[in-house]
Amino acid sequence: MAQRDLILLGPPGAGKGTHAEYLEDSMSYTHLSTGNLLREAVANGNNLGKQAQDYMEAGELVPDDLVIELVTERMAQLDCEEHFLLDGFPRTTAQAEALSKMLGTIGREEPLVINLAVSDAEVVRRLGGRLMCPDCGTIYNVHRDGLDIGDKCPQCGGELYCRSDDQPEAIRNRLNVYEQDSAPLIDYYQQRGQLVTIDAEQDQQQVSVELAELAQGRRPC
Ligand code: AP5
Repeated sequence: MAQRDLILLGPPGAGKGTHAEYLEDSMSYTHLSTGNLLREAVANGNNLGKQAQDYMEAGELVPDDLVIELVTERMAQLDCEEHFLLDGFPRTTAQAEALSKMLGTIGREEPLVINLAVSDAEVVRRLGGRLMCPDCGTIYNVHRDGLDIGDKCPQCGGELYCRSDDQPEAIRNRLNVYEQDSAPLIDYYQQRGQLVTIDAEQDQQQVSVELAELAQGRRPC
């Protein structure tokens, strides 16, 4: 079976970014992360960043029209040989409908949607220990990698930091927003026959193996 375009769904901290990086490196996916694109816009201080910053720091969703425009621009640049992997988009039914329309316009098939299932308690544990590299984007965890804020990234030497929305109040809000606005997408894609769920509380390597099998069509959906 041919490699599939993918959407990774799941609550904050489910491992979307971690596994997207893995699939990008191992299977040459084009990784489109709305969270990363929005953080870049905030760091650049451009118009989009100024509009998005307050929503992101509070753990609220950035308005649909801004995010849909951002993704539409990126999708239009895809080459037909490229396989894409969406991380953090869609997050609302309006975004899912806009995505279907976009795909129809550029003549691409509907992607396989992989739901990374993880409990709230594990989300809180993971996000409370997440570390990011500002230079290469690699994601680490205090609880697992023996690293801390301010340490050097083992990949590139960048100084590791904690994301500003990984504070307890913002994490709680992100979980509530996920339940209210994004969890309904599980049913949405289930009804369209596009969804498969993985137990994302398993060991990271096991989750990667299952994802790669699904992406290559080696595991039935
Ligand atoms: P975004 O950046 O998309 O954040 P998120 O969805 O909240 O997800 P995270 O990045 O927090 O988690 P993740 O699932 O990628 O987990 P990770 O791999 O890092 O969005 C940020 C904000 O931008 C939003 O709140 C919103 O404001 C805005 N935004 C973005 N997209 C939007 C949209 N479409 N519409 C509107 N607004 C939008 O893993 C977490 C930790 O767990 C890491 O430390 C990792 O090392 C560890 N870990 C991963 N897997 C495992 C495992 N199996 N076992 C143990 N540890 C693991």
